[in-house]
Amino acid sequence: MPGKILLTGGAGYIGSHTYAALSDAGYEVAILDNFANARPDVPDRLEVITGKPVTVHRCDVLDAAGLARVFASDRFDAVVHFAAKKAVGESQQKPLDYIETNCTGLVNLLKAMRAAGVFRLVFSSSATVYAPTLDWPIPEDAPLGYASTYAYTKLMGEQIIQQVAAADDRWRFGILRYFNPAGAHPSALIGEDPSDIPNNLMPYIAKVATGELPSLNVFGNDYPTPDGTGVRDYIHVVDLARGHVLSLDALMRGDGSHIVNLGTGQGYSVMEMLAAYARACGRALPHTVAPRRAGDLACYFGDPRKAERLLGFKAERDLDDMCATSWAWVSRRSNMRQG
Ligand code: UFG
Repeated sequence: MPGKILLTGGAGYIGSHTYAALSDAGYEVAILDNFANARPDVPDRLEVITGKPVTVHRCDVLDAAGLARVFASDRFDAVVHFAAKKAVGESQQKPLDYIETNCTGLVNLLKAMRAAGVFRLVFSSSATVYAPTLDWPIPEDAPLGYASTYAYTKLMGEQIIQQVAAADDRWRFGILRYFNPAGAHPSALIGEDPSDIPNNLMPYIAKVATGELPSLNVFGNDYPTPDGTGVRDYIHVVDLARGHVLSLDALMRGDGSHIVNLGTGQGYSVMEMLAAYARACGRALPHTVAPRRAGDLACYFGDPRKAERLLGFKAERDLDDMCATSWAWVSRRSNMRQG
């Protein structure tokens, strides 16, 4: 058995896929989640996927005493930390909530880990920590910055971890900067499941495909890109999950701390995404061209080479797989809701 892992936010979109990947790789995993943005039946679904019972600690990262109890209940070898708030727009309305959950929550976790003698951490960061740039693909040593409170909390999180590790050489961390996650598990039992109207492109298109939303607003078709619409680096969530396993493997075998992009290095436009999803669901999807969204860049994709060099990570799944698995998940889920 390679080790016992505490997975905070393990019932969420990327967290649940990472649970499946870690379990597949032989890790013993316990979930810590407050279920604020996760469906209560995700652990049951993970039991079906893995064929094993799932341990869940219902706990908020702001509950320091609760965290201490979780660490006292078991002997963990490492933590993979997802539990955080993640909506860019909401972060502008509620900055203190974001700073509290994402930064104070992280500090609470690091203190609980140190008290329990657990010094390996994989941290869910975001490509949003890069300063807006016209230079693509973006390497890890590109200038950093933030354009939202959400981005600020991720950058702050990275810096908190590095400060703590600089003061105590027992710490080893993997900071993973994601580009745009898409797709779902091949079982169609878990996937992205926003309860509100989605802000992000893929879950929005998925709701147009199921008929829950009438039409996609394409935010701008006059960008300096081949078809005028925004280009992003979409990465299959199953590949992203495997990136966490490889980061953890590196920490478990005693490799040094690392900061890496998890992306494909390949950009797709909004119109390419829409066309790929239409192929997956078998019908043309309604869309309307709308004004540009404030703060959006024309093009954004990462340089994936460092993750390949350090961790052996390379995204394998293509756009059609992202759309096909997303469609399998959302069409099954909306049938379940109707039934
Ligand atoms: N888009 C539309 N219509 C929509 C939603 C999005 O046309 O309804 C377009 C956007 O303009 C953009 C592309 O689709 O060109 C992707 O937009 P997303 O909102 O899906 O993703 P972003 O790249 O804007 O945001 C993502 C993450 C954030 C992160 C940010 C920067 O969702 O958490 O990357 O790294 F902060």
